[in-house]
Amino acid sequence: MSSSASVSGVLPPLTRPALIPHAHASFRAINRSKELWGIDSEKFKPERWVENHVPETVKSIPAVWSNMMSFLAGPHACIGYRIALLQMKSMLFTLVRDFEFELAISSEDIGRRKNIVGRPYVASDPGSGSQLPMLIQPCNVVV
Ligand code: HEM
Repeated sequence: MSSSASVSGVLPPLTRPALIPHAHASFRAINRSKELWGIDSEKFKPERWVENHVPETVKSIPAVWSNMMSFLAGPHACIGYRIALLQMKSMLFTLVRDFEFELAISSEDIGRRKNIVGRPYVASDPGSGSQLPMLIQPCNVVV
């Protein structure tokens, strides 16, 4: 790697972090790219990662986890990703085992606020902030 980087002809030394204006990468765009993942890239399809079914096109993504940029890549990749995955898996397992979930509104009425972390909101009621109305009821557990 070179020890300097050019931005508009200026060469700042890379001994300090360089602020590059107007340069950003969208992790979501990479994670959902049809060119990389195929035409069903927006679909929830966990079997993509089973038995090495990931397309060749994503194998060059230098991500730390599952060819996705959610936890970034390289020296500043998330160091907490394993604990984050463990927490999400154990929480989802407990919730899905004990409760049934159903949307309380039409899926067409759900919008996504683009922020550092994307959040859902009700498109017909944007002033009420981030929310995802759901009907949640306990599963009928047979003992
Ligand atoms: C779903 C949960 C999480 C996501 C999506 C996530 C994502 C990320 C991303 C994208 C970065 C890179 C940020 C950047 O350099 O621009 C990062 C960095 C980092 N994450 Fe996470 N993270 C999660 C949970 C956690 C947890 C649970 C911990 C700690 C227990 C953690 C600790 C860190 C640390 C210390 C860095 C900075 C690493 C560095 O700059 O060297 N993260 N994370």
